[in-house]
Amino acid sequence: MKTIVIISSFILAGVLTALFFGFNLASGTSPIEYDDDQEGISEQVIIRFSHVAAENTPKGMAARYFAKSVQAKTNNEIQVEIYSNAELFQDQNEWEALTDGKVEMIAPATAKLSTLFPNWQVLDLPYAFPNNKAVQEAYEGKIGEKLLNDLSQSKGEGLGFWYNGFKQFTNDKRPIIEPEDMDQLHFRTMPGPIIEAQFEAVNASTSELSFNKTYQNLEVDFVDGQENTASNIYSKKFYEEQQFMTISNHAYLGYAVIINEQFWNKLSESHQKTITTSMEETTDWIRRHSIEINDSHIRELKRTSDIKIDVLTNEQKKKWKKRFMPVYIHAEKSISPSLLKEIKRIQEHYSSP
Ligand code: LMR
Repeated sequence: MKTIVIISSFILAGVLTALFFGFNLASGTSPIEYDDDQEGISEQVIIRFSHVAAENTPKGMAARYFAKSVQAKTNNEIQVEIYSNAELFQDQNEWEALTDGKVEMIAPATAKLSTLFPNWQVLDLPYAFPNNKAVQEAYEGKIGEKLLNDLSQSKGEGLGFWYNGFKQFTNDKRPIIEPEDMDQLHFRTMPGPIIEAQFEAVNASTSELSFNKTYQNLEVDFVDGQENTASNIYSKKFYEEQQFMTISNHAYLGYAVIINEQFWNKLSESHQKTITTSMEETTDWIRRHSIEINDSHIRELKRTSDIKIDVLTNEQKKKWKKRFMPVYIHAEKSISPSLLKEIKRIQEHYSSP
């Protein structure tokens, strides 16, 4: 009994000492050695950049170009970590991930902002852009400025726009040449009332699905088709599940590059300047290269896949434009009149006489 009392007193004394002084596991060990790898680490800034596209696409390449440029200009003080192919977040979670500070940068397709910021739908209007110059004027002119300004009320700071290319239709039921060929087909789309209205105007139905779930949904025939740029169709292998592709150039797919506002405000002025300069250089690069990247992917599709490709003539496009007219009336409900006026001006300016 006496032994039990003595042992218990020792245990109790030990527990009380530990509680009082804490469980300092490091006590008694030697001081941390000098490690030159750790030097300057406290000044290093990490930008986690999440996106959903593949590496060999305009966005994938631009993200790497941007990262290299920022790192070189800051002597690696800023590191840009790129997470492509929705490795971290699917498209519908990207905005939340950015505003919650789980990542610092995203570059969603402009359509993916249109449910939060209705004016952004203006960029999805069918046949709004007769050519790439028209897109540039919208992105880098008054329209782009107004849209980025709409973001300023949010926790995201818009840095600019990146280019991909014109959208094309694919499906596995029939060649699509006339608007009537769309009748009763079911398409995977990005979100947005204008995109939905575009398909409704040709009697087709839609399901909004994540980009990286599109392949599986084509595979199990949940959807008959989808619309996307050649680079996305090629890099995500949609051609394996689709028999027909139409080069319709009916709408444009590009990106908003956005940085977490709180993170941005905490950066030094010189880091902000560097990011802005690298962003401008990358935008120049992607504007010049996105067209060739998409063209080369069309060539690869012709060379390596069995997909049958039809190209719409100007006469055929006229019929599509006519069928899409109700979409412009629909747009008046949610897009500011000044933006609609400007997009129509651009459209007329670049339409060939
Ligand atoms: C899509 O969802 O089809 C595109 O936005 C994917 C992308 O980011 O290019």
